[in-house]
Amino acid sequence: MEKKKIVLAYSGGLDTTCAIPWLKEHGYDEVICFSANLGSEFSPEDLQERGIKTGASKVIVKDLREELARDFLIPGLKANLIYENKYLLATAYGRPLIAKYLVDCAHEEGVNTVGHGCSAKGNDQVRLDVTVKMLDPKLKIVAPLRYWELKSRESEIEYAEKKQLPIRLTKEKIYSIDKNIWGIAVECGALENLANATPDDSYVMCNRIENTPDTPDFVKIEFLKGVPVALNGKTLSFLEIIEALNLLAGKHGIGRTDMVEDRIVGIKSREIYEAPAGWTLIQAHKDLESIVLDRETLAFKEIVALKYSQMLYQGLWYTRLRESMAAFVDKTQEKVTGSVTMKLFKGNLIVTSRETPYSMYRMSMATYGNEDEYVRENAEAFIDLFAMPFLEK
Ligand code: ARG
Repeated sequence: MEKKKIVLAYSGGLDTTCAIPWLKEHGYDEVICFSANLGSEFSPEDLQERGIKTGASKVIVKDLREELARDFLIPGLKANLIYENKYLLATAYGRPLIAKYLVDCAHEEGVNTVGHGCSAKGNDQVRLDVTVKMLDPKLKIVAPLRYWELKSRESEIEYAEKKQLPIRLTKEKIYSIDKNIWGIAVECGALENLANATPDDSYVMCNRIENTPDTPDFVKIEFLKGVPVALNGKTLSFLEIIEALNLLAGKHGIGRTDMVEDRIVGIKSREIYEAPAGWTLIQAHKDLESIVLDRETLAFKEIVALKYSQMLYQGLWYTRLRESMAAFVDKTQEKVTGSVTMKLFKGNLIVTSRETPYSMYRMSMATYGNEDEYVRENAEAFIDLFAMPFLEK
């Protein structure tokens, strides 16, 4: 009889580690692991070793950091995507990309079933499933966490310990963590109780404010058509800029949020996010936009960003609407060229200077000094007409 095979989206974390032996106990002869390297805490070597030790027949690791940066984070930064004001969507950006390569991997391996270790309550199951379905509706998707008897993270740890699987967590440090180059998400454990302040061990990329330096750093970010291209005068790739700013802004405690968010399935959940580079870049980018874009485009962009962020959050990346919004946003970026200098200090991002060849700021209009060219007398007639539609008496 032909061997029953599955390609599992594998992260090296608790859920996917338990999934390998569980799938083998439930009818799969071979579990092939696919891991996308998006900048998690596990190195590719680590993943190889852990996957094989756990029972996978092979572990395929692909470095997708450049692709994540180029095809997802750049369009997202141009649009200033933020979910519910606090989440920069790091995990959400990664999922459609993982799903795309998971489907490719299944095709290459000649396998008709893919699996993942996402929980039945979470967003990631929706993001992965919906993308797999859009790319190849014939593939079967197996999500053991929707059916297995391991109902809690504690019982998964017991299962892993019984089988001597390589796990890093303990019942004391039980957080579920997802990290990529855009940021980190930490949930579960003590965080589930909203009355608890965030514990010290939930700080990963950001320093606690108490531990940040007492002197500020200054950073000049240069943009070309909405894309960051240089830091402090040095030309760098977008990925290098992200890496450098994660360290620098993280050191100053910038980019951390403690949030209760609305998941796709309707649950509210508490999550801690850190995205030091992301917040620094978005703030700089928005500041530059405020100078080069007219007010109607700026206002409409905010409406688009709201919808675009929700689409990304819901895993609806490879869709006509998302692509259409990206095309609109691209058009708005034609003149988003220039630089913004910021002071990083004690968790704050403070803009200290801006330069651009496309400024719509007119000193001769704005000034209250002697160079004023504004025709003051025009204001009265303008306001007469402006008020007219609202006068009921
Ligand atoms: N709630 C976030 C999202 O849906 C992050 C989930 C990340 N996973 C985790 N294990 N913390 O995008």
